[in-house]
Amino acid sequence: MVDVVRKEPRMAASILRLFFHDCFPNGCDGSILLDETPKFLSEKNSPPNFNSVRGFDVIDAIKSKVEKVCRATVSCADIVALATRDGVNLLGGPSWTVELGRRDSLTANMKAANEFLPGPSSDLAQLLDTFNRRGFTARDVTALSGAHTIGHAHCGFFADRMIGDTSIDSAFASLLQQNCSRSAGGGATEALAPLDRTPERFDNAYYRDLIAHRVLFHSDQELFNNGPQDSLVRQYSADGTFFAADFAAAMVKMGRMNPLTGTSGQIRLHCSRAIVSIPVKEAAQNTLVFFFLAAYGPSIFTKPPNHSIPPMATTFSSTTLLALMLFTLTSAAHGTLSPSFYNASCPKLQTVVRAAMVDVVRKEPRMAASILRLFFHDCFPNGCDGSILLDETPKFLSEKNAPPNFNSVRGFDVIDAIKSKVEKVCRGTVSCADIVALATRDGVNLELFNNGPQDSLVRQYSADGTFFAADFAAAMVKMGRMNPLTGTSGQIRLHCSRVN
Ligand code: HEM
Repeated sequence: MVDVVRKEPRMAASILRLFFHDCFPNGCDGSILLDETPKFLSEKNSPPNFNSVRGFDVIDAIKSKVEKVCRATVSCADIVALATRDGVNLLGGPSWTVELGRRDSLTANMKAANEFLPGPSSDLAQLLDTFNRRGFTARDVTALSGAHTIGHAHCGFFADRMIGDTSIDSAFASLLQQNCSRSAGGGATEALAPLDRTPERFDNAYYRDLIAHRVLFHSDQELFNNGPQDSLVRQYSADGTFFAADFAAAMVKMGRMNPLTGTSGQIRLHCSRAIVSIPVKEAAQNTLVFFFLAAYGPSIFTKPPNHSIPPMATTFSSTTLLALMLFTLTSAAHGTLSPSFYNASCPKLQTVVRAAMVDVVRKEPRMAASILRLFFHDCFPNGCDGSILLDETPKFLSEKNAPPNFNSVRGFDVIDAIKSKVEKVCRGTVSCADIVALATRDGVNLELFNNGPQDSLVRQYSADGTFFAADFAAAMVKMGRMNPLTGTSGQIRLHCSRVN
């Protein structure tokens, strides 16, 4: 903000207004920053904001810088709150402690922007009503309006006052009229006028202008028009420190307007767009029967003695075809899963996962079996959603520590390592759940059924290996469809062991 304000002091005013217009309609959630999509109308394009609210590029640039030092951690909503405080302070205004931890909205709300942002023709009763409904007192309104001590306004917003409004000083009205038409080059509504006599200084001159009836908006003048706010306006005009303290307190209050916290919303990676994936088109209730080969014996379904990892030969020679396990799923829903889902967004995905699994399986063939089991234990309880990969937090117990998994399911580090490689080629794009599914397929393919050392063992498992492999593959595709999170459900974790 130091750089931005040095280049263009007005930008501090513009960011302050951006914050107000983000918070006021439905909470400080960065919704105003979102570009329009086929799913929602943007707040940017609503009449109070269109061609008027500015500073989006500044917030985007700050967000990029923040992403470089703390990836996917700080919300756009918090960045606007901090930039606002810094901008005000850089123009000589107060500073305040910004409460942080907001998250970003998934959508914009143009209707709220249209309905709840006050207009410049409002009278005092309307202003007080609008702000009171959102928990602000008359004193807050009078202090917050002091924001008009910085910045500019388009002549179109006060054109009606230059002719026939009795609450404006007539000499000032004529001056405005001249300036608006002169600087407009014929398009008077587009010209800009300073909001007070010192538009690049955050001071209390605005209140002195109110007393002199030399302000731009009718809504401003309403604060000093023989009404209940007159005495407070006089106090602010006489005591800049008193005004600054009230303004800072009211800004903290504004920052508390309906923030999204906890698991609501998200931390966007780019402020102008929410992180979304394709929608769920269907959620069929199926009853699936899995014939699942439990051929991997101790290596897959039981804990190896002393937690040691037995060599493959031992593992497989000690096992036989134990059983075909029958699992009846009473509710397995699948959305729009597709093998080509990442073709455009992450074309290198399959190569990266395959190459990583080649390395992994070369070093430790058993890992193919472990990843296969990891996939099974992720999918089977409540869907293939990477939930098994999450470390425990104060908010939830981990599946890792559940008795069937604890000290038994393994391969988490392998998935984490593959995820890091994938993140390098396609940031924030591929879910951990999909990485497990691909690594499972590649591991099975590389180690168990591909002319490898286990072929003979596999042949023993079945008189007809092709028939087995086909059924197994079909069952695995089915397993991959178990309650996946798609559309706007869930998220693309940046690290598999923690939610973003
Ligand atoms: C009380 C009701 C309010 C009304 C009716 C109102 C209306 C307006 C209008 C019409 C503009 C001119 C926009 C343009 O020409 O593009 C403006 C500018 C501005 N408003 Fe307000 N506003 C109000 C309250 C606030 C509040 C509460 C804040 C912040 C706390 C604020 C901060 C600003 C700033 C800093 C500017 C100058 C922006 C720039 O130069 O880019 N306003 N306001």
